[in-house]
Amino acid sequence: MKKRCLMVGAGGMARGWIRRFLPSFADRMEIVALVDIDPKVLAEQADFLGLPAEARFTDFKAAFRSVEADFCIVVTPPWVHRGPIEAACRRKMHVLTEKPIADSWADVRAIYRAVHKAKVKCTVIQNYRYDPGMYTFREILRSRRLGKLNYLMGRFLADYRRYAAWGAFRHEIPHSLLVEGGVHHLDMLRNLADSHCVQISGYEWNRPWSSFKGESNANYVMKMANGVIAHYEGSCSAAGQQNNWHQEYYRAECELGEVVVDRDGTVRLTTRDNKTGALTTAEVPTIQPEYVGHQYVIDAHLNWLAGGARPETALQDNIWSNAAMFGAIEASAKGATVDVAAMVSRVVGP
Ligand SMILES: NC(=O)c1ccc[n+]([C@@H]2O[C@H](COP(=O)([O-])OP(=O)(O)OC[C@H]3O[C@@H](n4cnc5c(N)ncnc54)[C@H](O)[C@@H]3O)[C@@H](O)[C@H]2O)c1
Repeated sequence: MKKRCLMVGAGGMARGWIRRFLPSFADRMEIVALVDIDPKVLAEQADFLGLPAEARFTDFKAAFRSVEADFCIVVTPPWVHRGPIEAACRRKMHVLTEKPIADSWADVRAIYRAVHKAKVKCTVIQNYRYDPGMYTFREILRSRRLGKLNYLMGRFLADYRRYAAWGAFRHEIPHSLLVEGGVHHLDMLRNLADSHCVQISGYEWNRPWSSFKGESNANYVMKMANGVIAHYEGSCSAAGQQNNWHQEYYRAECELGEVVVDRDGTVRLTTRDNKTGALTTAEVPTIQPEYVGHQYVIDAHLNWLAGGARPETALQDNIWSNAAMFGAIEASAKGATVDVAAMVSRVVGP
């Protein structure tokens, strides 16, 4: 039977959900009601979906009071995640939410507790894990073709020096890079390391020529539970080389060689001949999973609702990526290494 979905948020990203991602799943789910505080975007997307007037809401609380649905999708700004997710929990609705879980560690903790108490299934979108290039990169590491993983480098460089180049709200909020962008990259580094971040240290900062009020540069070092070290470099004022969305740079230094992906999206392996010192670089054919990006996570969530396996980016796992992000903010503020494992265990138990 089709799952009924209450969708909260009809703005920039939601438009992509409604028009590009969800139509492929029309045989498994349908949007039965839509919410947005902006009547114009609400009308645009609700018209596209053919929703009747009684299925259109400008107040999510009213929607959660009256709509009968199996799950909700949350595509509102990060500071409007907690309200809808707690409301969903009260109605025992499952949740599929955009990243980050929330814009503060206090809200992440509240969401985790509400979901746990209500025993609902909550999945977080981490679509970058399922870009074909990054999916291929991870498969190389997991196959152990280059032996064991030593350390990882990740780089995001975007020229957002013009105000609103990254959507106006991101230029206004605190910790812009980490909250709206870095959470993807810290999650990716965890994904590649196949582990959790247990400690993080480093800094986030701004420069006078930045178009952001919140911190928009970051440099961090993470230590994973399995001993892998990962370095993250990010900037929203990149005036030179670009490693923008879907074109990030990642490098994994392994026992028997390195694997690299750069802005062209091609995964390359380089190995060194011990005797001659000669380097050999080979391009790796890209693996194409059945679903990519958002659709991979949507498919995984619907499978979970139908009794299948828990998705990799379920809240229970994703809390670790958010803990790394809020640990990063604290590390910068205190100039100290933060114990991310302790942050998580205080919420989920040992
Ligand atoms: N996974 C990705 O690649 C990706 C990319 C972009 C954005 N996102 C995430 O998607 C979410 C939304 O971002 P966006 O770019 O669509 O922002 P946006 O500002 O374009 O859209 C947000 C929408 O939420 C609505 N809204 C705000 N407060 C509301 C409330 N109280 N009740 C109902 N609706 C409300 C706004 O009117 C707006 O239409 C964020 O969590 C963001 O991090 C994810």
